[in-house]
Amino acid sequence: MPNSLFRRALRKGARTLRHLMQEPSPAPHDFSQDRFAYGQINALVEQIAERLGAEQRSHYTWGMAHGAYLAQHLGIERITVIELGVAGGNGLVALDRAAVEVERALGVGIDVLGFDTGAGLPKPYDARDLPNLWSPGDFPMDEAALQRRLHRARLILGLVEDTIPRFLASRPAPIAFISFDLDLYSSTVAALPLLEADPALLLPRVQCYLDDILGFTFAEFNGERLAIAEFNDAHPQRKISPIFGARFYVPRRYTNAIWVDKLYMAHILDHPRYGDYDGLVRRPRMDLS
Ligand SMILES: C[S@@+](CC[C@H](N)C(=O)[O-])C[C@H]1O[C@@H](n2cnc3c(N)ncnc32)[C@H](O)[C@@H]1O
Repeated sequence: MPNSLFRRALRKGARTLRHLMQEPSPAPHDFSQDRFAYGQINALVEQIAERLGAEQRSHYTWGMAHGAYLAQHLGIERITVIELGVAGGNGLVALDRAAVEVERALGVGIDVLGFDTGAGLPKPYDARDLPNLWSPGDFPMDEAALQRRLHRARLILGLVEDTIPRFLASRPAPIAFISFDLDLYSSTVAALPLLEADPALLLPRVQCYLDDILGFTFAEFNGERLAIAEFNDAHPQRKISPIFGARFYVPRRYTNAIWVDKLYMAHILDHPRYGDYDGLVRRPRMDLS
């Protein structure tokens, strides 16, 4: 390129740069004017995804952020978030890291707990535990290595059959989010007393994530789906339901992410605060005309 052309191109580049630098940055979005809270919570989920990179799981952050948002609107200062089935610990580490960010953004304290045998899967009892997929000892944990990666999260080791009743007896802060990843039907049944707890230990709606319900040989008659169906049959006032159409409510970039179909919500219909205003639909903007 002749020198004069090169100089002209340089000048043009500098002009564009000056122009861009003078461009006022757009005013930050005022979420309080939105009709629904999804935009605000999604923005937080995306911000955390960018900040934490590979160490985060957006489905955990989404469930935890919705739980903390509900607690904030009910004036509840502290919540518990739980991973059932920890194995190597990447999920618990993700929950641990994101809890700091959600706590800072929404001003609700968050206790993070992970339940696991510490020694991998127990022995499947029968066909409902899908022994075609799982074997005893699958997903072992290196406890010392995992403890070194955890900050606030606490590991509760042992069979959930034993540890969950003791945990509930300790009167934790209300449970806001549970990731079910115990793989076995029998273990999921053993964990579900969490959702039978005294309402003081639960938010009126508990965000849930069910890891093992899509593809493979999962069906309504085995694994986590069967445990949930039996729970719903046995509890007229406690129901675990999919969040229908969740893909339309998560950040756009996750519309086709598999985890969206694994988002559930436990409805504690006998919770004294089930009907309290939860901030999801912004009241001042309600205009049905
Ligand atoms: C698939 S792994 C969990 C993976 C982990 N959530 C993650 O995303 O990295 C399943 C875990 O559930 C645990 N588990 C299954 N049944 C259990 C039970 N009855 N009590 C305690 N832990 C159990 C196993 O020890 C195993 O580590």
